[in-house]
Amino acid sequence: MRILSGIQPSGVLHIGNYFGMMRPAIELQKEGETFYFIADYHALTSLRDPEALRENSRRVALDFLACGLDPERAALFRQSDVPQVTELAWILSTIAPMGLLERAHSYKDKLARGMAATVGLFNYPVLMAADILIYDSDIVPVGKDQKQHIEITRDLAGKINETYGSEPDQPVFKLPEPRIHAKTEVVPGLDGQKMSKSYGNNIDIFGDENETRKRVMSIVTDSAPVEAPKDPERSTIFKLYSLFASKDEITEMRERFEKGGTGYGEFKKELFVKLWDYFAPMRKRREEILRDKSYSDNVLARGSERANQIADQVMARVRAAVGLRTRGGEDRQNSRPRATGDGSVRASNAIAEKHQPASESP
Ligand code: AMP
Ligand code: TRP
Repeated sequence: MRILSGIQPSGVLHIGNYFGMMRPAIELQKEGETFYFIADYHALTSLRDPEALRENSRRVALDFLACGLDPERAALFRQSDVPQVTELAWILSTIAPMGLLERAHSYKDKLARGMAATVGLFNYPVLMAADILIYDSDIVPVGKDQKQHIEITRDLAGKINETYGSEPDQPVFKLPEPRIHAKTEVVPGLDGQKMSKSYGNNIDIFGDENETRKRVMSIVTDSAPVEAPKDPERSTIFKLYSLFASKDEITEMRERFEKGGTGYGEFKKELFVKLWDYFAPMRKRREEILRDKSYSDNVLARGSERANQIADQVMARVRAAVGLRTRGGEDRQNSRPRATGDGSVRASNAIAEKHQPASESP
């Protein structure tokens, strides 16, 4: 089973990223072959400061490693180190219906927030589909906001399969499944809306202690007085606390909410302590990684090598399937099927072979 996900280096990582995507991705390392990347091409749709993009990309790698990404199990790489993905995005865009992309919530939200309607922003889901399909991914761990993008990916893969897979049992692409955990699908931010770097309501994973405390203390609450009973289900403090605390601790806080007699300020202090302790081992690991200047670079170089191998194989299959010239003997060799166990991709490589014009044989 192949598992893949990406995260944009458009800012500093927050606890919504952690619980929505990073922690599930790290847990999945035990279940299959994992590929995680820093979506720097995607970040170009919102970030236009080259030094900031480079710096954020380095930071995402560092933070992901500190949080438990194990480079012996997972390939970690920069999206732009596999430029073939932009070629696949082009091929997908030739069959992508405008209407499908026009319905993308994330695109509409970004326009509503004042972002300029660029072609890149509009095509964002097509590039994301290419990211997923170019690695024959089975499972994509993400937060709920990405669900529609995965549905679009499945639609585009289906269209390519219908158009270019000569038989239903010989698809060009596998159809990926999202992996979204109900409990952490939308982590709320300080104002109770989805936590997001672009809403400024984020609590960062590796924020400085005073800043993090200040942010926790600024969580928006209703004006219930100390003695009043409070509704835990409607409280951002309680929702965030539930991410960090044990079952018993959650039950206890729920009872204190419902009983009254404790103010929100007190609950916020308890949340801060839990949150700060939770990330303590990761802060320590981060310090260690920082001491070895070349560690992250080496991890990224190894990850990109692995990702390129697979992307080259899949692109040879795709180029052959759609009728583009494959690049000489090397690609023909690369287009040989990988052992998947389920036969689907093996079958589609047969298409690659079949579509290969005789004149191009090495
Ligand atoms: P992004 O920062 O948009 O690149 O998001 C990276 C990953 O974190 C994606 O899988 C998102 O779905 C996930 N994510 C971002 N914000 C949240 C949130 N507030 N709650 C849950 N998941 C989130
Ligand atoms: N769009 C994702 C986000 O903003 C990042 C991303 C890009 C991604 N390509 C992907 C996630 C492929 C999963 C798979 O969070």
